[in-house]
Amino acid sequence: MQTVLISGVGRGIGLELCRIFLSRGDKVIGTYRGNIGAALQMLIGPHLTLVELDVTDNVAITELGNKFADTAIDLLINNAGVIGPEGSLAQDIDSQQWLHTFHVNTIAPFQLTQALLPALQQSSKGRVMTLSSQMGSLHRATTGMVAYRTSKAAVNKAMQVLALELTPMKIAMCMVHPGWVQTDMGGADADISVVESAQGLVKVSDQLNMDRTGQFLTWQGEVHPW
Ligand SMILES: NC(=O)c1ccc[n+]([C@@H]2O[C@H](COP(=O)([O-])OP(=O)(O)OC[C@H]3O[C@@H](n4cnc5c(N)ncnc54)[C@H](OP(=O)(O)O)[C@@H]3O)[C@@H](O)[C@H]2O)c1
Repeated sequence: MQTVLISGVGRGIGLELCRIFLSRGDKVIGTYRGNIGAALQMLIGPHLTLVELDVTDNVAITELGNKFADTAIDLLINNAGVIGPEGSLAQDIDSQQWLHTFHVNTIAPFQLTQALLPALQQSSKGRVMTLSSQMGSLHRATTGMVAYRTSKAAVNKAMQVLALELTPMKIAMCMVHPGWVQTDMGGADADISVVESAQGLVKVSDQLNMDRTGQFLTWQGEVHPW
């Protein structure tokens, strides 16, 4: 049994991760925004703690860290994310929307990890898994969605640096491409179901250790090109 904190459990991959961990008997602290939808309602029970959090709220992130400072959190999953302005060509990108995309996808995972370090250090197997995307890979030369792509490329770099800095604390961290997944973000035509993706992500998180820290992986556990 472990304790897992997941951001953005209201829908999509975060919701499915929450469902899988609870079904294994793990404890989940899930963050959500706004109303608790029917699917999340069904998961409420003694092993699920729900905390309202907008990940762009710096004060709320600090409060979350303080609230759980004495709790051993074994695994933090930075899942909450936004696609940003869709179809945007680099030449007509709106800088405010770009900044918001960066805040949610890049800055917030970093801040959440920092805030939860005391809780992660209470665990003998503290790990951090951040949902990134193949769309942020510099290896892939493709156009469009520049805000999303750059935010994921940046979170990879930020987390790689943090992983190295946290090596003495033995907190293992990885960034993961979850596949192209059938969620609100991925759309109905995506390659894989949310269940397939989340099952793979759970396996990757189970196998995450200091040998893999700082790596960019796929949901199948393979190394993803940067
Ligand atoms: N789906 C894919 O094909 C795909 C591919 C590569 C990477 N990813 C990554 O995987 C992660 C999950 O994606 P998904 O497909 O499950 O997306 P999704 O269905 O659109 O769900 C996004 C989740 O993030 C939460 N969120 C967004 N902005 C937030 C904020 N400011 N504060 C707190 N929570 C916020 C949403 O909460 P609300 O319900 O309150 O909006 C929701 O729970 C993201 O990081 C995404 O970039 C997805």
